[in-house]
Amino acid sequence: MILAGTDIISISRFDDKKLANKSFLDRCFTPAEQEYCLAKAKPAQHFAARFAGKEAVVKALSGLDINMDYRDIEILKRKNGRPYIVFHTRDEKILRIAERCDISLSHSESDATAFAVIDLRD
Ligand SMILES: CC(C)(COP(=O)(O)OP(=O)(O)OC[C@H]1O[C@@H](n2cnc3c(N)ncnc32)[C@H](O)[C@@H]1OP(=O)(O)O)[C@@H](O)C(=O)NCCC(=O)NCCS
Repeated sequence: MILAGTDIISISRFDDKKLANKSFLDRCFTPAEQEYCLAKAKPAQHFAARFAGKEAVVKALSGLDINMDYRDIEILKRKNGRPYIVFHTRDEKILRIAERCDISLSHSESDATAFAVIDLRD
């Protein structure tokens, strides 16, 4: 079985007021995610892409009746730019599938989108 999840978000949701709201950022994004996005020329599109990524992962996980806080789903980058997911949990069920998850992000001027898959095949 392969579980998929996708999401699309308007970047305007991450306006200056939202990005200045530290408690919002801390609730949704890890310190490493915040550091990555805030270092970019246009942080909003990177925050929006990560938010879409977390929602896509949550949608894929719902196929296993698993629910997670956004803060516990971290989206980091490999050296070549490819994103990957780190799950912050002790739940064995989630840790067992962690290596079977993949994520892809994209953003334009107006929207950010993400697609997540969990490949449960042997
Ligand atoms: C990897 C690549 C396809 C990304 O394209 P892009 O249009 O800049 O990417 P988008 O704006 O749609 O999405 C950006 C997201 O892609 C993801 N990304 C970046 N590099 C990536 C890679 N090597 N693999 C997978 N995903 C990647 C990132 O998550 C990034 O978002 P983030 O910075 O917020 O994390 C592009 O940088 C690239 O290297 N293209 C190959 C160039 C080429 O061969 N051109 C010849 C065409 S004829």
